[in-house]
Amino acid sequence: MSQPSRKISFRCRVMALGGFVALVLLAGCTTESKHQWLTVFFDGVPPLGATNAVAASTTVKPSPTNVVSQAQPPPPPPLPKSVIHPPYANRDCTACHESKFSQKMLGKPGEVCFNCHKELKQSLAASKLTHPPVGEGDCKSCHNPHQSLNKKLLVTKGNPLCLTCHDNPLAAGKFKHQAVEAGDCTDCHAAHAANFKGLLKKSAKETCAECHADLTAKKKVVHQPVADGECLECHKPHAGKIKGLLKKTVKETCAGCHDDIPAKSAKVIHQPVGDGDCLACHNPHATDKKALVKKSAPALCWDCHDNFLAPAKFKHDVVEDCFGCHKPHSSAAGKLLKKDLLKVCAECHDDKDLKAVKGHAGAEGKSCVVCHDPHIGKDKFLLKPSALDQQAGKEPAVAK
Ligand code: HEC
Ligand code: HEC
Ligand code: HEC
Ligand code: HEC
Ligand code: HEC
Ligand code: HEC
Ligand code: HEC
Ligand code: HEC
Ligand code: HEC
Ligand code: HEC
Ligand code: HEC
Ligand code: HEC
Ligand code: HEC
Repeated sequence: MSQPSRKISFRCRVMALGGFVALVLLAGCTTESKHQWLTVFFDGVPPLGATNAVAASTTVKPSPTNVVSQAQPPPPPPLPKSVIHPPYANRDCTACHESKFSQKMLGKPGEVCFNCHKELKQSLAASKLTHPPVGEGDCKSCHNPHQSLNKKLLVTKGNPLCLTCHDNPLAAGKFKHQAVEAGDCTDCHAAHAANFKGLLKKSAKETCAECHADLTAKKKVVHQPVADGECLECHKPHAGKIKGLLKKTVKETCAGCHDDIPAKSAKVIHQPVGDGDCLACHNPHATDKKALVKKSAPALCWDCHDNFLAPAKFKHDVVEDCFGCHKPHSSAAGKLLKKDLLKVCAECHDDKDLKAVKGHAGAEGKSCVVCHDPHIGKDKFLLKPSALDQQAGKEPAVAK
């Protein structure tokens, strides 16, 4: 074969006339397309963005055994390095084209590439899902078959490559996932093929756990769908219109699986439960407390109710166990009581014993809370002020 310098001068002569016209035309072209044409017809055209020094040393000798990487010196760090596809660098045009002078491909798109990239063909066959452009052999929508300034011969770097065909998933709402905003689509997705729904490289569970394992780490109680890695039951992966990347409002999210809370037959619904503010009391993922509560009662209750225990002189023995008498969400009885007011005290206080109490003369049939406060009191019998007055012999305060 002729020396590169001679070839250039030969071609220059042939194209002296046409060359002038071409140069005028090329002057209007983008740098990249100019470069592409130059490299087609001339050897030794420096890669885009390279200095002359690099150009000289990346000139590939026309030997079929030459591997371009051997000819490359240590790359100058500040400049992007052009990646040249080895068969192209080796001038092995007929590995892909019918001849050196024809752009016609040797076979169907994709198949040509699989002649050499056999492991890729195998991995596609072994995968459950193939990205449609890959399955269709449309390699060139992502790769430049000759050379590129981007690694892996990609036509565009990073997320813009994916966005040439896909709508930007971050446009789905004002709440955006930082992992998508700051990361690469290929952190989570495979470009060619995968075994997991949505072309994920790993299962959804493993994908999310990679960065969010701390949500459940060392916690004693884990919400079942979270333990099962069903993050996408509640969350959107990229962006959404609802805070916390939720697919639906908190109320609708929880009701999706817990439609019995509040109970349909309930007479009384605890206000935050009715409002769907489940997160006022629960952590959606995991806690160290029973039933995923953020805090145990009664501390939990003091987030919204005045702490009536702190200033109390006398307390009902069992008052700290609020759920001994109340239900957290809803009830068929008033005041969120587990049972009717008349029955709730009888759970622990035997009727027979009460009859023997002096102060209970005439108390029968009356609600206990007419005379007693269920929580606290000024005396050890938890008598309400009116009952205390009656005790002291004043007017018959209690009427019901
Ligand atoms: C690895 C396979 C491969 C090799 C090797 C290869 N080409 Fe190509 N070439 C392609 C593909 C794929 C296209 C795009 C075809 C299409 O658009 O349908 C292409 C397109 C072209 C085009 C059209 C313009 C362009 O750049 O899109 C020219 C000209 C060309 N090749 C010349 C060459 C020459 C000359 C060589 C040898 C120095 C060569 N090719 C080596 C795969 C290859
Ligand atoms: C004649 C054999 C041959 C053919 C045909 C071929 N390749 Fe390659 N390709 C190679 C070799 C050799 C390498 C470098 C070693 C490696 O990474 O496997 C390579 C590397 C690549 C790389 C990775 C580049 C990098 O920087 O790591 C891509 C992407 C690629 N080829 C795409 C294609 C596409 C697309 C086609 C079809 C248009 C194709 N190849 C056809 C031989 C070939
Ligand atoms: C949707 C875009 C897209 C399409 C279509 C596509 N690729 Fe790729 N390819 C990529 C990306 C992105 C990478 C880099 C992957 C990475 O860095 O993890 C890559 C990497 C490669 C590599 C390097 C292998 C490696 O593991 O580093 C080869 C070879 C390759 N592609 C060949 C092909 C062939 C052949 C086709 C057509 C059958 C094709 N690609 C179609 C996006 C694509
Ligand atoms: C050449 C066009 C093209 C490019 C470039 C492209 N895709 Fe696709 N992609 C498609 C088509 C077509 C589909 C199938 C239709 C759909 O789901 O939108 C698809 C589907 C997908 C799916 C959904 C698969 C499923 O099972 O629901 C994901 C995820 C995906 N692409 C990710 C990517 C990523 C990541 C990139 C960048 C590395 C990328 N795509 C680049 C064309 C493209
Ligand atoms: C943090 C991981 C992650 C990142 C980063 C990411 N995705 Fe996804 N993507 C997912 C998950 C998870 C799904 C849902 C998979 C499923 O349905 O099971 C998904 C689904 C998709 C789908 C299928 C259709 C849909 O919207 O549900 C497309 C297309 C897609 N992603 C494109 C992209 C593109 C483009 C980028 C980069 C801009 C990107 N993704 C970045 C995790 C991610
Ligand atoms: C590459 C790391 C990474 C991966 C993988 C990842 N995330 Fe994230 N995610 C982040 C970062 C960083 C933040 C922002 C800081 C924070 O809130 O923890 C975030 C925030 C979130 C938020 C809160 C958003 C908000 O606005 O409050 C949710 C919900 C979320 N991720 C869900 C997921 C789900 C579901 C998956 C799996 C599909 C996942 N993440 C995978 C890194 C990641
Ligand atoms: C049962 C529904 C549900 C499931 C399943 C779920 N989440 Fe959440 N997640 C929520 C709710 C509700 C919020 C709070 C949203 C808000 O701030 O209003 C949240 C908030 C988050 C946040 C923001 C930071 C924080 O700690 O509150 C991250 C990160 C997060 N989830 C990641 C995940 C990951 C990862 C998974 C899977 C392991 C997952 N979620 C499973 C409902 C769920
Ligand atoms: C995808 C279905 C699903 C969604 C959505 C869901 N849960 Fe659950 N939840 C379950 C399952 C399954 C259990 C375990 C079985 C049971 O106790 O019903 C459970 C149990 C619970 C428990 C009891 C945990 C324990 O250890 O006793 C609480 C509390 C809870 N969920 C709260 C919520 C809240 C709050 C929301 C909304 C942020 C929510 N759940 C959304 C499925 C779901
Ligand atoms: C005022 C605080 C509070 C609110 C608001 C609240 N919960 Fe609870 N929830 C609790 C407490 C406390 C328990 C545990 C009761 C116990 O220990 O007996 C509980 C238990 C549960 C349980 C497991 C036991 C059961 O009763 O089935 C589920 C499921 C549950 N809550 C779901 C929800 C959902 C869904 C919402 C929103 C609609 C919600 N909670 C709102 C305090 C609350
Ligand atoms: C997120 C705020 C919030 C938390 C936490 C909360 N409550 Fe409430 N609760 C309310 C509101 C609001 C009302 C209705 C207005 C009122 O009566 O003060 C209410 C009313 C009640 C009622 C009266 C219901 C009726 O029908 O009159 C009881 C009983 C009650 N709460 C018990 C509890 C107990 C027990 C706890 C702790 C496990 C608790 N609450 C935690 C907000 C809360
Ligand atoms: C021994 C049973 C019992 C226990 C334990 C109990 N309560 Fe009550 N609670 C009642 C009864 C009975 C009423 C209704 C009183 C009435 O109607 O006068 C009530 C009423 C309430 C009310 C509504 C007050 C109003 O005026 O509407 C709140 C709030 C309340 N309890 C909170 C709590 C909290 C918080 C705890 C735990 C620290 C708790 N209760 C423990 C029996 C109990
Ligand atoms: C969960 C069990 C339980 C329930 C329900 C219960 N109590 Fe009690 N009560 C106790 C215990 C234990 C004591 C203290 C030991 C004793 O009986 O002497 C006590 C003591 C009392 C005392 C006397 C205080 C003392 O020191 O002798 C009164 C008054 C009282 N309870 C009223 C009520 C009323 C009114 C109700 C219904 C609103 C009620 N109790 C519901 C368990 C309960
Ligand atoms: C008419 C007012 C009144 C009604 C109604 C009433 N009590 Fe009492 N109760 C008292 C008085 C007054 C005492 C103090 C007894 C004494 O004088 O020794 C008392 C004392 C008690 C004691 C303490 C007994 C002891 O000796 O330690 C208990 C327990 C008690 N009541 C429970 C109840 C229960 C449960 C109910 C409802 C079934 C109820 N009371 C209804 C007025 C009433």
